[in-house]
Amino acid sequence: MRKKFICGNWKMFAPQWDGEIPSFSADKIVAVAPPFTELSRMAERLKGTGIQLAAQNVYFMDEGAYTGEVSASMLKNLGVSYCIVGHSERRGYFGETNEDCLKKIEKLAEFGIAAILCVGESLETREAGEEYSFVGTQVEAVFEHLSEAAAEKIVVAYEPIWAIGTGKTATAEQAQDMCAHIRATIAACRGADYAENVLIQYGGSVKPANAAELLGQDDIDGALVGGASLKPESFFGIVNY
Ligand code: 13P
Repeated sequence: MRKKFICGNWKMFAPQWDGEIPSFSADKIVAVAPPFTELSRMAERLKGTGIQLAAQNVYFMDEGAYTGEVSASMLKNLGVSYCIVGHSERRGYFGETNEDCLKKIEKLAEFGIAAILCVGESLETREAGEEYSFVGTQVEAVFEHLSEAAAEKIVVAYEPIWAIGTGKTATAEQAQDMCAHIRATIAACRGADYAENVLIQYGGSVKPANAAELLGQDDIDGALVGGASLKPESFFGIVNY
C-alpha cells in the first residue's frame, strides 16, 4: 500500500508559518520546501511535528567554484530529507535539462536525500495532443538510467505547467490518466513491481476544495502544493483532506 505524500513548495515566497502547526495522521508523509535561506530556521520549527524538511533545488557537484549554488551535503547537514528536482520553473527559467535532473538525483541519493522529480507538459504541448509522449520522455530520461540507490528513494510529481499558479486544476481524470501513464512508463523502464511502489504526486492549483477528489485517484499518491502551502490553514486543509 503506497502512503500519501503531501509536500509544500514555498518557491520564492516569504514564509507565513508563524501560528500553530496542525497535526496529521502518521500514515501520511508531509514535507515543506522553504527557500534555502529559511531551511535552518524551519528545521528548528518542524522539530517534533513529524513534518520533513525539503529543498527546492540542489547542484550536482560536491563542492567548488560554483557561485550561488548549494550542494547535497550542505542540504544533508541542515536536515533535508527531500529535494525538488526539475520543477518546470527551473526548467523554464534556468535551463534545467533532463540530464541535469539525473545528475542531481544521483548526487542527492549519495547523501540519502530523496528527489521529487517534477514532470509536466505546457498548454501548447497538450493542445497539440503530445502530452503523453512529452511526459513519457521526461520520465524515461531519468528512470532508464537511475542507479538502484536513487531508484529506491525517488518520488515523481506530475505538474502540468498550465495548471501551476493559474487556479486551473487538471481534472481528476486528466491527472489520474497522466499519473497512470507515468507509472506505466516507469514499469517499462524498471519492471511493474518496482513501478507499483513509486509515489506519484499531482501538482497544480491543489487546494483544500479539490484535494479529496485528486488524492482519491488510484495512481495519485499525494500532492505538490504551491500557493496553498504558504499558510498552514490551507496546507493542512489539504493534508487532512
Ligand atoms: P500551485 O499550487 O501554486 O499551482 O503550484 C504548484 C507547484 O508548482 C508546486 O510545485
